[in-house]
Amino acid sequence: MTKSFRGRRGGGQVVAVREATLRAEPGQFVAIVGESGSGKSTLARLLLDLIPATGGSVELDGKDVSRLTRAERREYRRRVQAVLQDPAGSLNPRKRVEQTIGEVVRLHKIARGRDAIRQKVTEALELVGMEPAERFLDRFPHELSGGQRQRVLIARAISLDPRIIVADEAVSALDASVKAGVLRVMADLTQTIGVGYVFITHDLPVVRKVADYVYVMKSGDIVEEGPKDRLFADPQHPYTRTLLAASPELAPLENP
Ligand SMILES: Nc1ncnc2c1ncn2[C@@H]1O[C@H](COP(=O)(O)OP(=O)(O)OP(=O)(O)O)[C@@H](O)[C@H]1O
Ligand SMILES: [Mg+2]
Repeated sequence: MTKSFRGRRGGGQVVAVREATLRAEPGQFVAIVGESGSGKSTLARLLLDLIPATGGSVELDGKDVSRLTRAERREYRRRVQAVLQDPAGSLNPRKRVEQTIGEVVRLHKIARGRDAIRQKVTEALELVGMEPAERFLDRFPHELSGGQRQRVLIARAISLDPRIIVADEAVSALDASVKAGVLRVMADLTQTIGVGYVFITHDLPVVRKVADYVYVMKSGDIVEEGPKDRLFADPQHPYTRTLLAASPELAPLENP
C-alpha cells in the first residue's frame, strides 16, 4: 500500500507509507517498529480500513477490502479489531465495563439477550485476566487502573472473535510492571483464541519479548523485515542496526 497526504503547511505531498507490503495471520504476533513519523500509524489506519489507500490494497483471504459489499465490510470490521493506547476517549467515562463490552457484542450480533451477552462479556474479561469478572462488570473507567483499562479495551476487541488485532502503541503508556502483565495477556491470546496481531511500538524490548515477525519502517518505507530472532541477532539494514544500538538493554539475545 501507498498513502500520501497533502502537506500540512500548504503545497507538496507527504508520502506517509510507500509501497509497503505486510502480511498478518491468526496466531502470529507481527510487530512494526520505527521512529516517530515513519508511517506506522498510517499503515495501521490503512489496515483497519479507516482511510483509503492512495495505491495498493488491503486484502482479507485474498479479497480486496475496498470492493467488499456492505455486509462483508461489516464482517471485516469485526474480524480486524483495533486496540489503541488508552487515551481519554477510548473508553466512555459514563459507561460501566459490562455496557462498554456488551454493546459491541450486541451490535455485531455475537450474542442476543441479556444473559448471553453478559456471558460473552464475562468470558472476554476472564481471557484478559480480569477475574473474577463479576468484580469488574459494574465499574466505570475511573474505577480501574491504567492496566485494567487497557485490558478492558482488549476484552472488548476479543469479544467479537477477531482474527487480527491491530494494536497501535497499546502498552506504551503503561508502567514497566503493568506493561509486562498486559503484554503477557496479549501474547497468550495468540494461543488461547488464535488471534493474530499487528503490533506497533517504539519499544524494542517489547518486540523482542513477544513478536514472532518484525517489520522495520523508516520514512514511509519498510526497510527490513524478518523473523524476530534473525532480525535481532543479525540485522541487515543500517537503520535496523541503529535502532538496536540505541537500545542498550538489547545487547545479545538472552532469552530467545
Ligand atoms: N492526516 C494527515 N495529514 C497529513 N499528514 C499526515 C496525516 N497523518 C499522518 N501524516 C504524516 O505522515 C507521516 C507518518 O505519520 P504516522 O502518524 O503514520 O507516523 P508514526 O510512525 O505513527 O509516528 P509516531 O511514532 O509518532 O506515532 C508523518 O510525516 C505525518 O506528519
Ligand atoms: Mg503513530
